[in-house]
Amino acid sequence: MTHHHNYTITKDGQLLIKKMESDQVETVWDRHAAQQPQCGFCDLGLSCRICAMGPCRVDPFGEGPQQGVCGADADIIVARNLCRMIAAGAAAHSDHGRDLVEVLAEVAENKAPGYAITDTEKLNRVAAEYGIAADGKTPEQVAGELAHAMQEDFGTRKKELALVTRAPEKRQQLWRKLNIMPRGIDRETSEAMHRTHMGVDNGWQSLLLHGLRNALSDGWGGSMIATEVSDILFGTPKPAPTKVNAGVLKADQVNVVVHGHNPVVSEMVMAACQDPEMTKLAEEKGAKGINLCGLCCTGNELLMRHGIPMAGNHLMTELIIATGAIEMMIVDYQCIMPALSKVAACYHTKMISTSDKARFPGMEHVEFHPDNARKKAYDVVKAAIENFANRGETYIPVEPLDAVGGFSVEAVVGALGGTPEPLLDAIKAGKIRGAAGIVGCNNPKIKHDYGHVTLTKRLIENDILVVDTGCAAVATAKAGFKVADAISHAGPGLKEVCGSLGIPPVLHFGSCVDNVRILVLAAALANALGTDISDLPLAGAAPEWYSEKAVSIGAYVVASGIYTVLGPMPPIAGSMNVVELLTKGLGEVVGATFAVEPDPEKAAVLIRGHIENQRRKLGLDA
Ligand code: SF4
Ligand code: FE2
Repeated sequence: MTHHHNYTITKDGQLLIKKMESDQVETVWDRHAAQQPQCGFCDLGLSCRICAMGPCRVDPFGEGPQQGVCGADADIIVARNLCRMIAAGAAAHSDHGRDLVEVLAEVAENKAPGYAITDTEKLNRVAAEYGIAADGKTPEQVAGELAHAMQEDFGTRKKELALVTRAPEKRQQLWRKLNIMPRGIDRETSEAMHRTHMGVDNGWQSLLLHGLRNALSDGWGGSMIATEVSDILFGTPKPAPTKVNAGVLKADQVNVVVHGHNPVVSEMVMAACQDPEMTKLAEEKGAKGINLCGLCCTGNELLMRHGIPMAGNHLMTELIIATGAIEMMIVDYQCIMPALSKVAACYHTKMISTSDKARFPGMEHVEFHPDNARKKAYDVVKAAIENFANRGETYIPVEPLDAVGGFSVEAVVGALGGTPEPLLDAIKAGKIRGAAGIVGCNNPKIKHDYGHVTLTKRLIENDILVVDTGCAAVATAKAGFKVADAISHAGPGLKEVCGSLGIPPVLHFGSCVDNVRILVLAAALANALGTDISDLPLAGAAPEWYSEKAVSIGAYVVASGIYTVLGPMPPIAGSMNVVELLTKGLGEVVGATFAVEPDPEKAAVLIRGHIENQRRKLGLDA
């Protein structure tokens, strides 16, 4: 059976699916098909296995039981499940942030050889936000104090997180009034788990409100710390050219691929790959050099800061192995399918796991810590070079495409001449109608990349600036939207503005934790206008999301005042109360709502309607 044209819009994806079919290697689409029909109760959010009196399920047709053994009804069960998704997502991002803070602390103590403070200006600027003065101190001293202050943000000692002050004053007041101001990063996740234990919070509204607070502790806490500390340690991104798709692999070189989310390991792998001694070793083994490429967000981190080429997004992670060209794939954590090692076993690819937190069957575990990371990186890169001799036939089915990455807020504001005003002026003048953040993953329920690419196309041709992150950012790069020439796809106003700045109409804002860059830019625009984020002509979208992290992101984006359209339906349809609250009621509460629309053509219409509506309310087109 050949379905490869239905699974993905990408040429490299289609050809590699075909190759895997002929190699008789299973893919995510095969496993998804094998799961059909998926459980209808779970799909609606109506199943609960939180306690041992259960598992329970509520009958959506009203005939069978309407409550679990404990008496929880559909609203409670759905809200509790959703809260737990947010908690898991917030925990993932925030624990990633914590790992960076630990590196910062060890750099301060000179215990992390190979790591350094790269952006001292940013270090001092962020430290000042934590009330730490830099005068008369070495960068290491400031880093030590900042790491300590950030660790406090994770605990419960404070009443509010430090970086929430970046949000407009009105937004902060609203969070205080609603009692959803995040207090401690770990505290909110821990409280979410407590509230959702059997017999604690059984108010579906109060559960959902806490879900928002938990998500805010991610967006304005854990993820924000992850991004800021990554910039301090590895450099704040600047626009730089790169290459994307499976064609970035090189037939005559040792290909090392990093996959996961945290740059702590991949930065050291990059340094080892770029060492001329290692190149010499590769040449001795008959290769022309070492080619480091990225996948998913750890790839985005390297792409943003160093222009390292990007082999693909989430649904490409298995397919890329079928090229037979990868000597080694090194993973850290998050979004790494355990299936990868089974695929790798069919080729010569060595799989290396690096985090104590993330083990995978069939992978060799080489544990990285800040104090040994540099040495471990050399060890694994040497092993990758050795593995070149085991390579069989390779199949690299496409040529790579050009793309530009590296749009940090600092870079965007810099390109605009130091203030966000010119962007605001273009929005006020209507040349740019508004901006949309397109974020999130791939999901085999949606044709791979179709959601991201179609929505992006429709928005830019209607003069809506697109900023994107994560797998969405990789999708539009592979579709050719991330070069300056892509303004040919933009409407006349967007074309003029981007053309005069020499930037693409679709800006790569980074990894998934870098969604906070979108929050920071939105806050800067709102502050410049003296208004709240919820008044701006902005929207968010996650057209192909799959992960719990994406649920947390969606929730903090909405709680920050940005209307957000999801592609796949979250498991909430079993409670009309929850659906109504999230898609309508929240508008009265936080000034923004969710919508669900799997068809990106229709999602584009929703977003355009919302942006035009926001413009009218602001009196921009009067
Ligand atoms: Fe069933 Fe209630 Fe236990 Fe959930 S918490 S499994 S609904 S008894
Ligand atoms: Fe990601």
